[in-house]
Amino acid sequence: MSLSVKHLLGIKEITTQDIQTIFRTADNFKQVLQRPIKKVPALRDTTIANIFFENSTRTRISFELAEKRLSADTINFSASGSSVSKGETLIDTVHNILAMKVDMVVMRHSASGAPWFLSNHIDASIINAGDGTNEHPTQALLDAFSMREKLGDLSGKRIAIIGDIMHSRVALSNIFCLQKLGAEVTVAGPPTLIPKHIESLGVKVQYDVKKALQWCDVANVLRIQLERQNKPLFSTLREYALFYGVNKQMLDSLEKEIIIMHPGPINRGVEINSDVADSKQSIILDQVENGVAIRMAVLYLLSSKAEVIE
Ligand code: CP
Repeated sequence: MSLSVKHLLGIKEITTQDIQTIFRTADNFKQVLQRPIKKVPALRDTTIANIFFENSTRTRISFELAEKRLSADTINFSASGSSVSKGETLIDTVHNILAMKVDMVVMRHSASGAPWFLSNHIDASIINAGDGTNEHPTQALLDAFSMREKLGDLSGKRIAIIGDIMHSRVALSNIFCLQKLGAEVTVAGPPTLIPKHIESLGVKVQYDVKKALQWCDVANVLRIQLERQNKPLFSTLREYALFYGVNKQMLDSLEKEIIIMHPGPINRGVEINSDVADSKQSIILDQVENGVAIRMAVLYLLSSKAEVIE
């Protein structure tokens, strides 16, 4: 029971077998999380640093909780309030943290490729918790795990990823993960938020959100990442909501019931309305719950303890 990689940098680098191993391990950890005592000694004496150079609510809390459930020792680092503001580099920051005998690093960074860069300079295993507009592998794993819980084997299932595809690391990791599991993927949204040539990844493109919803079994709706846009790519949020937002009227007009997902944070009333996000079709909070089991599985499988516990 181990993975083919030393680090989890992106879904692109791992195999379908790795994904299935992570899912089977997460199935076991999900059972642990239903018990009155939700803790196992799997990573006792392992120290993990969560270093976040960019804001996070779900990912940071989920990793920290996963580490605590595995009995690891954890330290948390945020760029704000650190010596990064005094000019300290990424490499120096991480070398200083590792000098305190840290075994694994969970890192989020606004620069695409930062975890790959780091992996050339340190020995500890690195888990990418989101790098710029590139990848967010544990989000894609928890998304696919949540779909698998509802639909079983994802082979041949139709998944629409809707919204700001251009700036979304969740979109890219989802595309890689879902394709490795045999699903069909369509990306949908305004032409200005869909990268040119994305079809070369083997996905279909749909500019009409209603048609994408009619086609799919699952809609994974993404927020507009205004913080990554340095020029206007659509007129107003109101117009975006009108033409590309997912609302209840749209869902009710379909001849079937689809599953609604969103990785968070949600901009209610923009890419998704509350009557959809909070509907019985939505599994948004299941995604959050599954994130802990998936991250426990990834941490455990990448640790040196993977062979010790069955
Ligand atoms: N889904 C996700 O990455 O959320 P956070 O930015 O809150 O971690």
